[in-house]
Amino acid sequence: MQIDILTLFPEMFQGVFDSGVIKRAMDKQLVSIGLHNFRDQAHDKHHTVDDYPYGGGAGMLLKPEPIFEAVEAIKGESDIPVILLNPQGRLFSQKIADEFSQYRRMIIICGRYEGVDERVSEHLATDEISIGDYVLTGGESAAMVVIDAVVRLLPGVLGSELSPLEDSHVAGLLEYPQYTRPDSYRGWAVPEILLSGNHARVAAWRREQSIRRTCERRPELLDKVELSTEEKRLVQKLR
Ligand code: ADE
Repeated sequence: MQIDILTLFPEMFQGVFDSGVIKRAMDKQLVSIGLHNFRDQAHDKHHTVDDYPYGGGAGMLLKPEPIFEAVEAIKGESDIPVILLNPQGRLFSQKIADEFSQYRRMIIICGRYEGVDERVSEHLATDEISIGDYVLTGGESAAMVVIDAVVRLLPGVLGSELSPLEDSHVAGLLEYPQYTRPDSYRGWAVPEILLSGNHARVAAWRREQSIRRTCERRPELLDKVELSTEEKRLVQKLR
């Protein structure tokens, strides 16, 4: 996958992509990330990228021309998804990460200041994504979140092909509790059943724990999950 990021602060991404799973994915050439400072596309002497909003109001807006020109320079005539990060976008989720992980290429635009000229969202972006109901100083940290969630889903990126299937949110449920050695730490014992070696009982326990945990912490998620009759009864009881 090729990801191109448009940002006024490319240096913010250094460090983030220089270690860990994303770095390994880049080394294995499973993903390539291009950073483009769209200030380079501003043609005036001061490389102006922002201006006052028509109609007045506080703050500055990112001008359309540098962003349009930077995107067009990357995509040429090809059809590449252009994702604008913006608190007004669709709320990012595991499902959207999955959708993006199918793309061969994508372009991500990081907004800044008080906003972006509306024509970018109307005529250039093919999608707008928010990572949550709060306002960041810019789209850069949101881009890091989106890229992290997407890249780990690409085939070959995680050590085990199976592990993303067990994640919280993949089955629409939160993940069950997990433990490693020692089996007793400061008197807190690992649930007996996990030491039993009985795979069927472990699987049943984990499923029940996932349902209990989701019910306690994120009950609204349960409305979208397929449950067996017995599991529905458990939810009724817990509620
Ligand atoms: N830019 C500012 N706030 C944002 C948010 N919540 N999600 C995505 N981009 C943003």
